[in-house]
Amino acid sequence: MKIFLDSANLLFIKKYNDMGIIDGITTNPTLLSRERDNPAMLMREIVSIVKGPVSLEVTATQTEEMVEQAHRLRKYGQNVIVKIPMIPDGLKAVRQLTHEGIPTNVTLVFSANQALLAAKAGASYVSPFIGRLDDIGQDGLEVIRQIVQIFRNYEFGTKVLVASVRHPLHVIESGRIGADVVTLPPEILAKLIFHPLTDNGLASFLKDWEQLKKETPNVEI
Ligand code: G3P
Repeated sequence: MKIFLDSANLLFIKKYNDMGIIDGITTNPTLLSRERDNPAMLMREIVSIVKGPVSLEVTATQTEEMVEQAHRLRKYGQNVIVKIPMIPDGLKAVRQLTHEGIPTNVTLVFSANQALLAAKAGASYVSPFIGRLDDIGQDGLEVIRQIVQIFRNYEFGTKVLVASVRHPLHVIESGRIGADVVTLPPEILAKLIFHPLTDNGLASFLKDWEQLKKETPNVEI
C-alpha cells in the first residue's frame, strides 16, 4: 500500500520526503488556504520536491473551466494528478482529461456507487473520505471494502485512495482490505512512527551502554 501525505505544508513535506516514507502528496483548497502562501508558488514547489504523484485540485465547477485549470496545473509537472470533485460536470471533465492522457483523482467520494461511476469515466484514483463518513455515523471502512471488491470484480484500473483518515487503525484496516493508497495528515503519520515501547527500549539500551563504557574503558563501536 502506498502512503501519501495529505498536506501543503513544505516543512512536513520535506521532513517525511527525506525519511523516504511517502510516495506522493494530496492537497486541496482547504490545505492550501492554511499555509498563508501564494498557492501557485506553493504547488510548484511541492511538485518539484516530491518525485511521486501530487494531487492538485481544480476550483472550477463547470467542465470547460475545470479542463482549462487542469491544463494549467499539469504545467507544474508531469507528476501532477488533477483532483476533480465528484459532480456531473466533474465526470465529464474526467472523461475528457482521460482521453488527453491526463491522470485524475476524483475527490469527495462518499459511496461505492460514486466510486464506480468515477472509474467508468476513467479516473486514475478515487478518494473516498472515510473520516467524514464516520463523523456522521456511517462506516467509512465498509465503503472502502465495497469499492475494492467492485474494482477487483470488474478489473477496473482505478486506484482506491483512502482519504480523510483520522487514526492509525484506519491505516491498518485499509491495508488489510487492500486499498491502493492511504493519504495521511502529518499528525497521523507521526502517530504511525512512534511507539512508547520503542522509546523506553532505546532509553534502556543507551543507559546500559553508558554503564558498560564506565566499567570497560576504551569501548567503541
Ligand atoms: O484530502 C482531503 C481529505 O483527506 C480530507 O480530510 O480531515 O478534511 O476530512 P478531512
